[in-house]
Formats: sequence, C-alpha cells, structure tokens
Amino acid sequence: MGFAQVGAESGWRTANTKSIQETAKKDGIKLKFSDAQQKQENQIKAIRSYIQQKVDVIAFSPVVETGWDAVLQEAKRAHIPVILTDRAVDSKDTSLYKTFLGSDFVKEGQKAGQWLLDNASTSDVNGDGKINVVEIEGTTGAAPAIDRKKGFEDTIASDSKIKVIASQTGDFTRDGGKQVMEAFLKSQKGIDVLFAHNDDEGLGAIEAIKAAGLTPGKDIKIITIDATHDGMTALSQGEINYIVECNPLLGPQLMDLAKKVVDGKSVPQRVVTEETAFDQAQATAALPTRQY
Ligand code: AHR
Repeated sequence: MGFAQVGAESGWRTANTKSIQETAKKDGIKLKFSDAQQKQENQIKAIRSYIQQKVDVIAFSPVVETGWDAVLQEAKRAHIPVILTDRAVDSKDTSLYKTFLGSDFVKEGQKAGQWLLDNASTSDVNGDGKINVVEIEGTTGAAPAIDRKKGFEDTIASDSKIKVIASQTGDFTRDGGKQVMEAFLKSQKGIDVLFAHNDDEGLGAIEAIKAAGLTPGKDIKIITIDATHDGMTALSQGEINYIVECNPLLGPQLMDLAKKVVDGKSVPQRVVTEETAFDQAQATAALPTRQY
C-alpha cells in the first residue's frame, strides 16, 4: 500500500498515522508512507511515485477537496485501486476511487451547533441578549473545514440571537488557533463563544484567551471537534465546554477494505465512522481509557 498522509498538523493526525502504520504492520501489509506537510503538490508527487512503483493499492487523505482528477485518472489507467480515507475529493467521477472511509463532517458541525442551541441560555456570557460566536476554521478548501462550517452555521441559523461575527482559518494547528484568537480578541467586541474546527486550534486559542486575562470555558464558551487526549483533558478541567468526537483510528477498517479491494471483492462506496460527543462529566469518565 502506498499511503499519502496530509501531514502532522494535529494530535488527531498523529493518532491517525499511528493507527495506519501499526495496523499495516500487524496485518503484514507492506506500507510506503509519505507526509505531505499539508501541501497538495507533495501529495500528488507521492501518489505519482506510488503509481511508478506499481503498488497494489493507494490510499490517501486529501489535503483539500479539489484538483485530484488528473492524478486519479493516472492511477486508474495503471489499474491501481484508490481508497480515500478521512477526507473526500469533490470529483464528479466516482469511478476514480473504490471507496471513501471516514467521518460525516457535516454531522459533526451540526452536533456542535446543536449544543449551542441547547445551551443558548447560559452562552450569552456578556448578557447583552446576543450570542456572538467566533469561528476558527480548519485548512481552507479541506472537506472537514467546508462541511463542519456548513453543519454548524445551518444549525445555529434557527436561533436569531446566535451570530458568527468573525471566521478565519487556523489551518488545524495549535499555533494557527492561537494567532487567530489573538487577532479576534483585539478586533472583536463581546465574544461569547468560540467554535474551533479541531481540538488543537481550540487549545491554541485557550493560550491566547488566558494571555488576555480571561478564563476559557467561562468568559468565552468553547466548542471543538476531535476529542483527543489533550482536548478531553481541557474539557474535563472546564476550559472547553463541549467536544464532538472525530475518530482517527481508521487503520483496521482501512486495511480490511484494502485487502478486499486488492482481492477484487466489492466494497461499499462510503463507509462512515461511528462517533459520539462529550460534555465535561462524560470527558472525565472517558479519559482514563482514551486511546489517543
Ligand atoms: O480530517 C480530519 C481533521 O484533520 C481533524 O479534525 C483535524 O484535527 C485534522 O487535522
């Protein structure tokens, strides 16, 4: 298997890489692995090199949604099956890949929005009758950034008190989250809620909020996505208020699908990962056995 990974931008990604590498080893699958450092051109180069090396199957987690048709057609012409993991491509030609294994990112955004609707009465921290939300988005053009934004914003639209007053990318990194939050704290008045597209951005933002003399989780309510160990620790300590889970442990399902595809067996076009969400008490209960 040739696997073209997005990068090492987050705790989620580190857990995802570990799951893929460990499962390949356990299942006796020879894995060629590359880290694209969040750059599409690096991923395309890696896929082309896997085609040249005539691997049996290519799997990858696309950095962004668009711009994959040419390289996927090259793989198809070389009769090398492709599996999408974690993130989707927006290609109209679904024959370019065998299956897509990963989360429903729209649903994750909806769950984050639903928590805010359910907790609106305690989320008007500034007490002015409005709930001002700042949003730290994931990597621009990436499926989870596009879908989580849509799911969240469509859901909160049913309550006119809740408004997203500023939204910017933090590139799914801790540093990005910190820098964007610092800028929001300077430019925006009366922030009640932060919605960060992943835990790392939320954790970076927490540093900025503390540096501004505010208490994360109280002065600004915080909702994130992933449920990594660091995120769950912050939730358990009350610095984050709610986390929607996104499961990175895709290795076992990916290797099962790959074996079937290489054996010419049929696989479903879409395999959705099962996920939950956590409040403070649930995070405290889950932390001792959390795997990532
Ligand atoms: O594609 C999954 C997302 O990518 C995770 O939520 C995020 O942490 C990662 O970088």
